[in-house]
Amino acid sequence: MTSRAYHLRELAIAQTSDDPRHVMPAILPRHRRILDIGCGAGQTLIASNLPPDVRATGLDVDFEALRLGRELTERVGFVAGPAEHLPFPAASFDLVLSRVTLPLTCLPAAVAEIGRVTAPGGDLWLVLHSLDKTLRDLRASLLSGHWKRAAYRSYVLANGALFHVAGRLLPSPLDGHYESFQTDVSISRELRRAGFADIAISAGRHYVVTAQRR
Ligand SMILES: C[S@@+](CC[C@H](N)C(=O)[O-])C[C@H]1O[C@@H](n2cnc3c(N)ncnc32)[C@H](O)[C@@H]1O
Repeated sequence: MTSRAYHLRELAIAQTSDDPRHVMPAILPRHRRILDIGCGAGQTLIASNLPPDVRATGLDVDFEALRLGRELTERVGFVAGPAEHLPFPAASFDLVLSRVTLPLTCLPAAVAEIGRVTAPGGDLWLVLHSLDKTLRDLRASLLSGHWKRAAYRSYVLANGALFHVAGRLLPSPLDGHYESFQTDVSISRELRRAGFADIAISAGRHYVVTAQRR
């Protein structure tokens, strides 16, 4: 699937509240400045139908996705950049959200950056990858005989375990990118280190974590 097709499909899911894959952040009146990290084409921000005076910013490393986002909406300010080095001053946002992107980053660096740019009292909403999902993906690659994919999924499994035990991540030996799964222990430890409190975790169909910046 191309980047464009993926982000258009996710936009349709974000706009369909009874789709089982639908998962969206609660936007409150105090959220005047919102950042979506790994926004793709801005699907989560677009589907949030934000009031006109809310400043919405979407950041991603994928230029094609950002180009599509600019075609789709003028409501979102799209910025190219990595989660690990956010190009924003400290305390710039009242809500930072990130849907299924932090598992693809060097998470300790990304979470430290999120802590820096979230204003005191600001909120965080994350959708992460659980151990269950990683095991399902590995099993599917093995059963279908996709050995290269299975090797990559084994790396993700080992990296998530390393993150759980030692709070460290390693880049993939196959492509140099990061990927991991998260656990309640590993993400809570990282969030506390970055200055977050009131950490709440919901591990149903989606692995959703919320927290507030002290
Ligand atoms: C699975 S997609 C999720 C897109 C969107 N958040 C959604 O929920 O539909 C992951 C996104 O993260 C972006 N991404 C991956 N690594 C990143 C990084 N280090 N910094 C910023 N964005 C990253 C990808 O380009 C992609 O758009």
